[in-house]
Amino acid sequence: MITMASFGVHQIGVIRIEQDACYVEIFQPFVAGLRHIEKFSHIFVIWWISLRDNPQDRTQLLVTPPKLEKPVETGVFSCRSPSRPNPIGLTKVELVKVKNNRLYIDRIDAIDGTPVLDIKPYLPGESVPLDKIKLPEWFEHLKNGS
Ligand SMILES: C[S@@+](CC[C@H](N)C(=O)[O-])C[C@H]1O[C@@H](n2cnc3c(N)ncnc32)[C@H](O)[C@@H]1O
Repeated sequence: MITMASFGVHQIGVIRIEQDACYVEIFQPFVAGLRHIEKFSHIFVIWWISLRDNPQDRTQLLVTPPKLEKPVETGVFSCRSPSRPNPIGLTKVELVKVKNNRLYIDRIDAIDGTPVLDIKPYLPGESVPLDKIKLPEWFEHLKNGS
């Protein structure tokens, strides 16, 4: 028998999308954790896909990613679907500037008000050379940056 444990996470901040700015606002109890973050050009933002936190989205395991030339049904662990058992979003962003508890970023695919769970710096050793990357044919076009 499989035991499925549950774990607790805390919201450490929130995504703010304004007309001419986009930033992660870190809540005061966690601000000390930002020390030296301004020394990094890119960060990972780990966020809660809040509007997909419902039984239907959390049990959907097969999806058809949008915008594919030829639609294909695939597993949620094989794509970036916002419907998944644990609605965790991961986005690499450019850190434009840091002002107090605000991390100004170039863009993010999360909506205004999205809860933030964690911030991690992007490290160069994590990138994979393009010629070493294997993808299913429906994602091949991403290699050209499209
Ligand atoms: C396809 S998901 C990918 C998220 C992240 N880049 C990842 O790979 O985990 C991004 C989409 O989630 C949707 N989205 C953004 N914020 C959301 C939220 N708080 N709740 C539900 N859906 C959200 C938007 O439609 C956005 O285009």
